[in-house]
This record gives sequence, structure tokens and C-alpha cells, in this order.
Amino acid sequence: MYKILKKKELAKNIILMDVEAPRVAKRCLPGQFLIVRTDEDAERIPLTICDYDAAKGTVTLVFQVIGAATKIMGDLNEGDSFHDVVGPLGTPSDLATDPIDEVKKKSIVFIAGGVGTAPVYPQVKYLHERGVNVDVIIGAKNKELVILEEEFKAVSGNLYITTDDGSYGRNGMVTKCLEDLVTEGKKYDHCVAIGPMIMMKFVCKLTEKLGIPTIVSLNPIMVDGTGMCGACRVSVGGETKFACVDGPEFDGHKVNFDEAMRRQTLYKSREGRAMLALEGTLEGGGKCGQ
Ligand code: NAD
Ligand code: FES
Repeated sequence: MYKILKKKELAKNIILMDVEAPRVAKRCLPGQFLIVRTDEDAERIPLTICDYDAAKGTVTLVFQVIGAATKIMGDLNEGDSFHDVVGPLGTPSDLATDPIDEVKKKSIVFIAGGVGTAPVYPQVKYLHERGVNVDVIIGAKNKELVILEEEFKAVSGNLYITTDDGSYGRNGMVTKCLEDLVTEGKKYDHCVAIGPMIMMKFVCKLTEKLGIPTIVSLNPIMVDGTGMCGACRVSVGGETKFACVDGPEFDGHKVNFDEAMRRQTLYKSREGRAMLALEGTLEGGGKCGQ
């Protein structure tokens, strides 16, 4: 069992939890994710890691309450436990594994959208601890939904906040903020974008135009998280990849976002899942079926 040591509501329906998981915390690297279950029969929920502390043996999770499974998770309190915390899963971010001297040569901008702000944090913190200070753009619908601002202030080179309704920081979406920064004279040669699929799609369209290589972290539907079931398939550069083992990070300019968004939408309804089954891509065809 994995005990919840801290619970905090960061914004309406966005919850942070510190969970005791010493073996996972020891092996985590930025970019990786976990799968949690509240009990033996519960849905498996993939979550990107927001922070980890090997010394304390804790991992920090941030999630949005959007359905039954996340509602059950959100109802857990400090002192309660998760039945499973499996991980770390997926491959770590290149920025955490590339030689740090190479990373230091880059001018890097991270783009964090909504709940996707949480998985950006461990990457920015990891780089800051190694002397690399990156620019960060956080985008949220409005002031109330901006999360982790103080935490980011402590580890970012420059932090830019932008809200869709202009209620806080700059006015507009993250794409407008990036375009404005470049117009104002900023030069970037590496971008990492994490947030809703539609945001990552439009960030990639913009960075392609601006000539900035861009990494995205995909969160498609996942079932087993080990490359076996095939549920998390995505097309990258015309090849089928499995986000849980080949990713979750990919070259954003090669990702077929329209296909990924269609799968995400279809998976939500019984009718849609029937359509994917008919197309032969609902599940199956994972690494063990190839
Ligand atoms: P949101 O809809 O509030 O969007 C966040 C920001 O993204 C916006 O403020 C805007 O700046 C930008 N954005 C949105 N649409 C855009 C567009 N068309 N063009 C340019 N920029 C755009 O985000 P939310 O409600 O917090 O998002 C929830 C989604 O994020 C869920 O679907 C969840 O699956 C996903 N998510 C992804 C990850 C990941 O690892 N990629 C992690 C957590 C959550
Ligand atoms: Fe990736 Fe099953 S979740 S193959």
C-alpha cells in the first residue's frame, strides 16, 4: 500500500498528492510516469510525475478530477493509501539523459498548458539543479487555474504566465505568448511542450514555422503501460509507436496529432471503442502481438 502523506487542492478539481513510494522515488527521472490504482479492481490511471524525493521516499502526483476514477482518487485523504503505484514507466526526457554540457549550449523554452504544467516542473527543476536555467511559459484558461507558480519561480530562468481570458499575466494562449517573445527578440533552439493535445498540436505548427525543434509528451489512453496491449499507439513520422514504452516524449513535428486526438475522443464512448475495434486498433498489436 502507498500512503498519501499530503493532499492539496491547487485549483478547482486539480489535486496534488505526495505519496509514499520509496522504490519508485529512487529510480524516477523527469519525463517518466506512473500508473496508480485506488484498489484491486479500480481503473489503472497513468499520471506523469510532478516531483519526487528519493531521500524522503515520496513521489508527487497532480491530477484533474474529470471522471469516476479520478473522483474516487480525489476523495482520498492524507493517511489513506493507493493500492498500487507502478513505475517509473516510460523513457526519461532526453534533457535528463543527454550530457549536461550539451544541454547547457541550448536556449530552451518549456511550454506548459493547464494540468500539463505539473509534468513540466520536474524537468525544469532537474535542469536548474544542474545550472541550466530555462524559460517557461505557463498557459491557463484563467487566473484561478494557474498552478505551481511559486514552485516554477524558484527554478525557472524567466517565467511567463498567460491566460486565455487575460485575467492574469499576459493575454492569450501559449502560442501567442511564444510568438510575442520571439518577436520581442527571444531566440530559442529547443522547445518542450506539455499540455492538452490540441495545445501541443498548435505549438508544433508554430515552432515548425519558427524552426524550433520541439519535444512533446503524449498522454494517450493507456491500459497496461508496458507495451503489451497496444492501446496507447500513436503515429510518429509514419511509424506506429507505443507512448508507454517508446515515449511518452516524441519529436512533436513528427506526431500525427489529428489521429491521436481522434483516438482519444473515440475511446471515451462505447460506440467509439466499437469503431476502433472495427478498425483493428482498439487494443492488441502491442509489442507482444507484433
Ligand atoms: P486547457 O484547456 O485549460 O489549456 C491549457 C492551455 O493550453 C491554454 O490556457 C492555452 O494556453 C493552451 N491551449 C489550449 N488550446 C490551445 C490551442 N488550440 N492553441 C494553442 N494553445 C492552446 O488545459 P486543461 O483543461 O488543463 O487540459 C486538460 C488536458 O490536458 C487533458 O486532456 C489532459 O489529458 C491533458 N494533460 C496532458 C498531459 C501530458 O502529459 N501531455 C498532462 C496532464 C494533462
Ligand atoms: Fe501502451 Fe498498453 S498502454 S501498449
